[in-house]
Amino acid sequence: MTNGFPSGFTWGAATASYQVEGAVSADGRGPSIWDTFANTPGAIADGTTGEVADDHYHRFADDIRLLADLGLTAYRFSIAWPRVMPAGAVNAAGLDFYRRLAETCLANGVTPYATLYHWDLPQPLEDAGGWLVRDTAERFRDYAAVTHDALSDVIKHWITLNEPWCSAFLGYGSGEHAPGRTEGTDALKAVHHLLLGHGLALDAIRTEDGTYGIALNPAPIHAATDSPADRDAARRVDGLRNRLFLEPLLSGQYPADVLEDTRTTEWFAAQEADLPLIGAPLDFLGVNYYCPTTVAAPDGPISTPGPSTQPGSENVGTVDPGLPKTQMGWSIQASGLRDLLVSINKLAPELPLYVTENGSAYPDVVTADGQVEDDERLDYLRQHVAVCKDLVTEGFPLKGYFAWSLLDNFEWAWGYSRRFGIVYVDYATQQRIVKKSGRWLQEFIA
Ligand code: NOJ
Repeated sequence: MTNGFPSGFTWGAATASYQVEGAVSADGRGPSIWDTFANTPGAIADGTTGEVADDHYHRFADDIRLLADLGLTAYRFSIAWPRVMPAGAVNAAGLDFYRRLAETCLANGVTPYATLYHWDLPQPLEDAGGWLVRDTAERFRDYAAVTHDALSDVIKHWITLNEPWCSAFLGYGSGEHAPGRTEGTDALKAVHHLLLGHGLALDAIRTEDGTYGIALNPAPIHAATDSPADRDAARRVDGLRNRLFLEPLLSGQYPADVLEDTRTTEWFAAQEADLPLIGAPLDFLGVNYYCPTTVAAPDGPISTPGPSTQPGSENVGTVDPGLPKTQMGWSIQASGLRDLLVSINKLAPELPLYVTENGSAYPDVVTADGQVEDDERLDYLRQHVAVCKDLVTEGFPLKGYFAWSLLDNFEWAWGYSRRFGIVYVDYATQQRIVKKSGRWLQEFIA
């Protein structure tokens, strides 16, 4: 253990179906809300879609071999609901693809970690109301059960949802993500139905033979100043971004102040019977961490409006804390990862945690001799891995780290204009080039 990590620590890389697979009409896959959204003029910064992406659907075997060559021992991918149940009925060819994918992982000494929902809701379910209606949570349970039944012999680690905050608030609040709806306070209904979907799915699929969790995107929230107004802004944003998810999952309660801020106390009171399901014990919690957020109230130094148009955080602005930033404009602060994991650990001291995503976007270029010298990403990775090492050394229950992403891919509303991979993808030829950051990780793990 020369790098300071115990040998059992899980090193992996992550992707998500719509971002890498392409092959959107292959073998009975139906349309998802991301197909519809990406094909809406103006929705995606560079006008692209996930139609081809990394062609991972056809190249997964090579990609998994590459992952294994890097010394990584885990692959976090997501299963596309619209491949498995495109319009309600089960599509055996969709399940078969993920069986081949998981078997290829195992054949290469790579442990599969499957996310059941990384944002690609089948379009017919959106047409029936999407996450604003309760029925979608029940359909998610059915899909989870079918998928788990079919694949639990080859996949032992399951993540129900990826970043439900994004699905609810970017999908139904600000409209920046699919399905692109701006429903104000109703986005809170999506939060509840997503969490209910998680609870129903967990109840349907949990066995002694696997581990089951969820991946959230909590973030450290700082007040720009000590003024009561800024501190209240930070409380409200922390409520929506963090506590609204962590508390029902870990303590079986919604935070009362958030329900009051958002004027949804009554609606949520009517859903109280769902809380025991939502708060059922997890085997692990996945944390996706990229950056901290600093916020201020209107009389503070607001540089951009936001954070998104979340109900309850009206009149709150984000403030530039003056830290170095990635190409996304996200502040780099590795100590934020530590603060975040420590604060979650206080809520659930025994719960194993994984960093299920961490990474950075930079405008990579291929040099004349065919290399990608992404020193900034390497630095970002090194700093965040160092935080993990300190925590593990202190005996903290952090069990693994997944780099986002294995491959450059379709970065949602940014299309292909943002690259997060530790492996570069030439979209014209589908050639893969391991970046300097990927080589660094390889050497570090070895
Ligand atoms: C979180 C999401 O899970 C992933 O899909 C996305 O590409 C990264 N963050 C980077 O924005």
